[in-house]
Amino acid sequence: MNAHPENMTPEELADAEAKVDLPEIGSRERYDPLMKVMTNRVTVRAFDPDFEVPREHYEMILEAARHAPSGANAQPWHFIVVTEPELKQTIASYFVDEQRARAKMKMKFPTPDYRGLATAPGFIVVATDFRWVNAFPVLRDDESDLNRMYRENAERILLQSVAAATMSAHLAAGALGYNVWWITAIGQEAAQVAMKPLLGIPDELSVLDIMAFGPPAKAPYKRWRKAPEDIINWNRFDPAHHMTDEELDDWIQNRRHRVMFKDASKID
Ligand SMILES: Cc1cc2nc3c(=O)[nH]c(=O)nc-3n(C[C@H](O)[C@H](O)[C@H](O)COP(=O)(O)O)c2cc1C
Repeated sequence: MNAHPENMTPEELADAEAKVDLPEIGSRERYDPLMKVMTNRVTVRAFDPDFEVPREHYEMILEAARHAPSGANAQPWHFIVVTEPELKQTIASYFVDEQRARAKMKMKFPTPDYRGLATAPGFIVVATDFRWVNAFPVLRDDESDLNRMYRENAERILLQSVAAATMSAHLAAGALGYNVWWITAIGQEAAQVAMKPLLGIPDELSVLDIMAFGPPAKAPYKRWRKAPEDIINWNRFDPAHHMTDEELDDWIQNRRHRVMFKDASKID
């Protein structure tokens, strides 16, 4: 049987989706290839512009997203595959302008070079609908402080849900051999206003990010990762992991740009 959903009969598809098929506990049969995909998923910010992503690859990537978990199984995501060159170019130019605006604001964020976005053969805009927060534990039409707390968490549930689907899509793209670029610099209201009419996205929806992917323009590199002992805590939070405000500020000032843009082997 060809496992690609498009080649399955409706019965085969329903059958495949209804089954949960896990390996024996502790087996590395799937863990190892999965880790290979995970550790080789690295960001690149410039691509081979002449490559054309087959429609089937978009479908395979979004098939992974479709199976992601979500709060209340609301599946609060929409994916807009952008293939028209003029549309891509307009969106890419928006980011280059945003990059310039940030430089003028002296935000001091080491903003990446968004010119590479125009070179991305793969381009998927990820959107959500914040009205889905009502599907999570909240009281409707209640402005109390108590409900504000629930609403804040509901928003987090929504964002985590879409992030889970987005991550699944990125891993599927990596498994197909692509490098990926997760771009959230699009969340600001001004970007929403500019982006939504271009893509025919209704007012109620919000664009959350763009997933750009393709073969890289030059060899990708692996970025630095925190060591396991720096992030894992057993039973109690290890106070050694807690950063003071000063330490955090120092990290942002002196380390952030290096871990964002340098090969892990060049980070001390
Ligand atoms: C939630 C999220 C938001 C991100 N937003 C941006 C972005 O707006 N622009 C960008 O160039 N990279 C963005 N990135 C990519 C990160 O900078 C990148 O994943 C990180 O530096 C680690 O590098 P790696 O992906 O190669 O492991 C984002 C990644 C995530 C997960």
